Amino acid sequence: MDAQAEKKPVVLSGVQPSGFVTLGNYLGAFKNWKSLQDENDCIYMIANLHAITVRQDPAALKKNTLEGLALVLACGVDPEKSDIFIQSHNPHHAQLSWVLSCYAQFGELSRMTQFKDKSAKYADNINGGLFTYPVLMASDILLYQTDFVPVGIDQKQHVELARTIANRFNGIYSDVFTMPDCILPKQGAKIMSLTDPSKKMSKSDPNPKSYVAVLDDRNTIIKKFKSAMTDSGSGIYRAEDKLGISNLMTIYSAVTGKNDEEIVKEFQNFGYGDFKAAVGETVADTLAPIKARFDEIIADKAYLKEVYTKGNERAMKRSAKTLSKVYKKVGFGI
Ligand code: TYM
Repeated sequence: MDAQAEKKPVVLSGVQPSGFVTLGNYLGAFKNWKSLQDENDCIYMIANLHAITVRQDPAALKKNTLEGLALVLACGVDPEKSDIFIQSHNPHHAQLSWVLSCYAQFGELSRMTQFKDKSAKYADNINGGLFTYPVLMASDILLYQTDFVPVGIDQKQHVELARTIANRFNGIYSDVFTMPDCILPKQGAKIMSLTDPSKKMSKSDPNPKSYVAVLDDRNTIIKKFKSAMTDSGSGIYRAEDKLGISNLMTIYSAVTGKNDEEIVKEFQNFGYGDFKAAVGETVADTLAPIKARFDEIIADKAYLKEVYTKGNERAMKRSAKTLSKVYKKVGFGI
């Protein structure tokens, strides 16, 4: 087999260190991050440059960045198999981002749903970074010649924009960037809020009952599921007018790997209350070992430093190649 044929596909993804990680982040992204490691060449980062598009307390940002890293490791990402690093440690991301911002159109950036949502939410701070955020994300992806980007559905539009930018750049300068594709999980690409299942589960929701944090304790998790909003009627099955039950079925399916038919059969004699408790207990059982590993890892700051330092060295070597190629193409190679 020649070297080219042996090359594994490159996978890249990131998470913002904004407070804590929700069950939505875990099922939409982290679970896939772990399972992709054996067959692919994986790169994962804590996206702290992205985080400052909304105001951050510096001490909290620092703490959340390390905790984010510890949590990624606790979820099963293995630094022996994957490169894990902190985005701000590699200056190539910001460097490529400037270049690519000159190849992204104002209209394209204005159409980003997340920009529109966040501008409505943080109306007193609609900064330039919030607007150009998808260009930075495109740079994260394109710097490593990424083939696949495992994300939840809310990031799909950003990955599509990365393709648009790559295509435009390649069209002008001949092939520089690999065209990336999204990988969405079969179940769990969009986990909805527990208190309003018409909305995405989000860490920025002011109501803590609306989300489960991966590090919530067992009782809190079960309580949150028990108070989850369900629909009028009865019966455990998926339907358009049963958003609450459908969301709980999605969560149960993503956690256990069971399909709808199996779930309907398993809970055919259950009322809503017992079903909610059962899902809560299953989720709590799944998250408990992650929390235990997290507690060990976060206590070992020397280990964390070793992981992010080595990860960054490897990441920078790779991203330097793409950046240098881009600089030459646009005429900076003096
Ligand atoms: P972030 O930090 O908002 O979310 C991290 C990952 O979790 C997914 N996710 C969800 N999945 C299912 N249901 C939900 N309710 C839910 N909420 C969040 C997100 O889709 C994401 O995959 N911009 C990114 C971070 C990033 C990135 C990148 C990702 C920066 N650079 C390059 C991929 C490639 C973000 O803010 O994710």
